[in-house]
Amino acid sequence: MSATAIEPAAGYMIIDLSLEEAPGILAELEKASFEPGDQIKQREWAKLLHFSVFYACAAKVGDVIAGAAVVVVAAGIGYLYSYAVIPEWQRRGIGSRLLKQATEVCKDKGKCVKIQAHTRTHNLPSQTLLIKAGFVAVQYVTDYYADFEDGVLWEKAL
Ligand SMILES: CC(C)(COP(=O)(O)OP(=O)(O)OC[C@H]1O[C@@H](n2cnc3c(N)ncnc32)[C@H](O)[C@@H]1OP(=O)(O)O)[C@@H](O)C(=O)NCCC(=O)NCCS
Repeated sequence: MSATAIEPAAGYMIIDLSLEEAPGILAELEKASFEPGDQIKQREWAKLLHFSVFYACAAKVGDVIAGAAVVVVAAGIGYLYSYAVIPEWQRRGIGSRLLKQATEVCKDKGKCVKIQAHTRTHNLPSQTLLIKAGFVAVQYVTDYYADFEDGVLWEKAL
């Protein structure tokens, strides 16, 4: 799925990521934004996206990728597989903007009835952002993550 690139008047541009460029960009971004145990490698992204219906977008500031989001669509549900903003560019609305873009594509092009995401129970920045974006917590998942931290499943009807 793809959408048209958008240029908000906020110093960054939202661009679509193709299957060729998404794995490298997502892997690099995760190195800067996630703990090592939560980072997906470029080769793993390539394999996952190759076999999925997905949409990925990034926020670009000049030549710098400041953030990105990727959703995978299946059975009428968009799943926010990952989203992150590099520390230097956090708290400027970029994470919310990327989520909005991914949500709109799930609804308009993916014909999804809802979008879902998991967060770690301690990830208050992401949970606060999701709540502000209209997500509600629907399930508490014990030991969801590889290090046995519990997770919360969030969703938003589209
Ligand atoms: C979660 C993340 C993507 C948010 O990106 P961001 O661009 O900073 O988010 P926004 O600027 O759009 O924030 C929107 C709102 O979310 C909340 N929020 C975001 N970061 C927060 C923080 N560190 N502490 C408290 N609330 C926070 C605030 O309510 C914020 O609104 P405000 O700035 O007007 O107060 C970013 O913190 C990140 O990359 N974290 C590491 C990776 C990660 O956890 N990804 C999500 C996995 S589920």
